[in-house]
Amino acid sequence: MSDYTGRWKTVLVEVQDGIGWVTFNRPEKRNAMSPTLNSEMCEILLALELDAEVKVLVLTGAGSAWTAGMDLKEYFREIDGAPEIVQERVRRDASTWQWKLLRMYSKPTIAMVNGWCFGGGFSPLVACDLAIVAETAVFGLSEINWGIPPGNLVSKAMADTVGQRKALEYIMTGDTFTGVEAASMGLVNRAVPLERLREETIALARKLAEKNPVVLRAAKHGFKRCRELTWEQSEDYLYAKLDQAQLRDPEHGREQGMKQFLDEKSIKPGLQAYKR
Ligand code: COA
Repeated sequence: MSDYTGRWKTVLVEVQDGIGWVTFNRPEKRNAMSPTLNSEMCEILLALELDAEVKVLVLTGAGSAWTAGMDLKEYFREIDGAPEIVQERVRRDASTWQWKLLRMYSKPTIAMVNGWCFGGGFSPLVACDLAIVAETAVFGLSEINWGIPPGNLVSKAMADTVGQRKALEYIMTGDTFTGVEAASMGLVNRAVPLERLREETIALARKLAEKNPVVLRAAKHGFKRCRELTWEQSEDYLYAKLDQAQLRDPEHGREQGMKQFLDEKSIKPGLQAYKR
């Protein structure tokens, strides 16, 4: 049994039934992302990637917030006077986990947004493969309200998920929107009542955990990468991924699937997955 009790100060990590629950744990600061939290998250993502018990990673927050974004005191004010090299390191840690590691993570990831989600929180939100949110969660690109344009890759995250009109409206006004609105604009997959958030997330995580992990990884990496490639490049890349998945897949899912459909006639892949 994986046990991470007490290993990190700002983030709680628990592994249950194949799900790695990663909980931002600074509720008194609305889970604002401080340099400590960012550096701990780098360690956590690397540790859980190699933990065979973790099939799916869920990112959530303790208390009333998912995250109130970057920590204005510890990430901005206190770092302003630090040596340039320290500033560089602090920024790099934030980018490293918030999108570099998370976006192409080798396991499926779900953002389970329980409450406030502001500013810098949008990078990990969009870097997660899927997002389920409470209907009552409140989102905002609040940077304009305290005097900066959106930081880190928040604007890129918006451009990747939301149409220009909505993205610019929220970037330029700093107005808030609810989980229901986040779902309707495609920023997240769906919004559910807060009391059902955990069970809906577990159901989705279980569904992902049942899939062939090698093929699942190739599928999500292929999709995310080809958004930035031409059609020709995408063809090369996606076929390379497809062949790589076949080569690396220890359970030979492709052959299993074809055998169960074509020979045994025990499944219809249009309606169900092959039996592993
Ligand atoms: N950075 C640093 N501290 C933060 C923070 C942030 N992003 N968000 C909240 N906190 C701190 C507050 O300073 C306060 O600390 P204190 O108790 O030592 O005074 C504590 O968390 C509780 O915040 P409070 O504002 O009282 O909570 P609330 O529940 O009434 O409101 C928010 C919640 C999220 C609406 C509000 O805290 C807020 O607007 N936060 C800033 C959001 C933001 O602009 N983030 C973008 C950063 S890029």
